[in-house]
Amino acid sequence: MTHTLTLRRPDDWHLHLRDGQMLAAVLPETTRHFDRAIIMPNLVPPAVRSSDAAAYRDRIMAALPEGSGFKPLMTLYLTEDTNPADVAQAHANGLIHAVKLYPAGATTNSASGVQNFDNVRGVLEKMAEISLPLCVHGEVTDPAVDIFDREAVFIDRILDPVRRATPGLRVIMEHITTSDGVEYVKANDKDLGATITTHHLVINRNHILVGGIKPHYYCLPVAKREEHRLALRAAATSGDARFFLGTDSAPHTDPNKESACGCAGCFTATNTMSILAHVFEEENALDRLEAFCSLNGPAYYGLPANTGTMTLKKGDPVAYPEKIITGEGPVTVFDPGFPLHWHVET
Ligand code: DOR
Ligand code: ZN
Repeated sequence: MTHTLTLRRPDDWHLHLRDGQMLAAVLPETTRHFDRAIIMPNLVPPAVRSSDAAAYRDRIMAALPEGSGFKPLMTLYLTEDTNPADVAQAHANGLIHAVKLYPAGATTNSASGVQNFDNVRGVLEKMAEISLPLCVHGEVTDPAVDIFDREAVFIDRILDPVRRATPGLRVIMEHITTSDGVEYVKANDKDLGATITTHHLVINRNHILVGGIKPHYYCLPVAKREEHRLALRAAATSGDARFFLGTDSAPHTDPNKESACGCAGCFTATNTMSILAHVFEEENALDRLEAFCSLNGPAYYGLPANTGTMTLKKGDPVAYPEKIITGEGPVTVFDPGFPLHWHVET
């Protein structure tokens, strides 16, 4: 039996860090284990121009724990007013690594997102030309579409037509939650990848709703049926280079989660590597954890893998803090519902 596992240092290809006191409190939870992360731009107000992304990067750098070599990989929030020249400039000078598409109203702070996809055609064509990836929140917002079907319908109604209309556009389907997402990625051998979160490998919709409502398991896209969770586990542990880790770790304070109208988001930055080692071991795929966390993502983004290594060891259950205390209030750490035996050696 394997008890020690050494891999290249991992990256997180989808992360919410927020700003101010929240940023300061949650950033070390990520930098402890990850060398780089794709930083989501859904701030209030969102990071829509390159100047916003540059200022946000500077605030993250200023909040880094001493001695940390963590590198935030910035993104821009796509709106119908996004200027293709500004995007191209931000990419050329190395500031941004992707543009994020939120359908308007799909999730937290997405009100400035895209309603009419014809209005972003120019930006998408420029991105295809310069090979800049588009990170997609893949859910339709049509109130007539059931929330559990929104990813599958998005693929048919929006994603596939947009990709056909924009040859060469490199897309990352963020936080896929369904076998439909897995199959769509697998059916395309070029210009399409997908991130998978830690929590969607662990919970299905029963975890949210059976035996009382569990606000800390509520996120968007919402966890689906068990058959979808199993499809995600198969994809993540397959070694297929099109699938890689994006935790979507999304801190909200307890009062904002445990509320009559609770926010969407699971905070997994703290214990993600322990949970993933557990999941990969269950799937007899520990030898593919490195591909998922440390190799496939950089390859898709055209970046080198990290040079340092991380060692995980299996032993007695590891205790993680139940909550991270922030200046804005406590943030509950995702509880996988089983003891974690793998810990990251420091
Ligand atoms: O659960 C989520 N939380 N999904 C998202 O798409 C946004 C995120 C957040 O910003 O809290
Ligand atoms: Zn997200």
